[in-house]
Amino acid sequence: MVLKYTKEGKIATLTLNRPDALNALNIELISEISKALIDFMRDDNLWVGIITGAGEKAFCAGADIKEALPRLKEFRNLPWAEPPFFRGLKLWKPLVAAVNGHALGGGLEVALLCDVRIASENATFGVPEVTLGLIPAWGATQRLPRAIPTALAAEMLMTGRMINAQEAYRIGLVNKVVPLADLMNSARQMAEILCKPGPLAVRAAKKAMLDGLNVSLPQGLEVEKEMTDYIIGTEDFIEGTTAFIEKRKPQWKVR
Ligand code: CAA
Repeated sequence: MVLKYTKEGKIATLTLNRPDALNALNIELISEISKALIDFMRDDNLWVGIITGAGEKAFCAGADIKEALPRLKEFRNLPWAEPPFFRGLKLWKPLVAAVNGHALGGGLEVALLCDVRIASENATFGVPEVTLGLIPAWGATQRLPRAIPTALAAEMLMTGRMINAQEAYRIGLVNKVVPLADLMNSARQMAEILCKPGPLAVRAAKKAMLDGLNVSLPQGLEVEKEMTDYIIGTEDFIEGTTAFIEKRKPQWKVR
């Protein structure tokens, strides 16, 4: 099983499971991640996802250089070469990356898909594609400069320089750095925190934020208005405000 996909309560966990190849993304793994994320998106009982890697060395060392990259050109338009989860997947449920080691190339691109990133102390981050005569093909040229200052993104993208967990924390690429032994607990705690607010509101906040990042401020404020119009029409909005006034915990209906 190249991907372990488990569900516990409202939380789904995807564990990239090719530790001998540093969890590199071969065709099978890409396809399994796609299937799991689509299941996660459609399963109404799941509210938050965690993505991590098996073993203590790597979250994911990127596209499989031996299996996938030589076939990139040949199969440019086939689904595995354009994994839907890197482009166009309308997934508004929150994702937490538990980065347990190297997150390089496509591995960093998987982490960049996630909304919150928690790193273990041994984690490294980089986009070494240029050293292979390639560029990041799964989103890093666009998502990295939106996640960290442009000059640092430019340096990483154009030199392939890798950074360690502390530097990643300092530049805001990760939310938190913890000892490797505490990583999954920390990621689960974060996932549980994300399960507490109204789930539709959490998803609306994510959608408003991501849609607004790519447009002008006035257009972004329109996006926010649309999402507000939607959210105030939900039963959960009434429940959340009523629970506050009645000094009790809200019972979310996800409606
Ligand atoms: N693809 C396939 N196999 C990989 C791999 C990858 N991306 N990364 C590591 N491996 C394999 C190694 O070949 C090695 O296998 P063998 O034991 O069979 O030789 C095993 O994993 C362990 O790796 P190393 O011996 O290299 O481990 P290390 O600790 O010495 O180095 C590393 C670790 C710095 C991460 C190094 O493995 C490395 O540089 N890996 C490549 C990282 C990379 O360039 N990623 C970008 C890929 S391109 C991409 O992702 C494109 C895209 O955007 C679509």
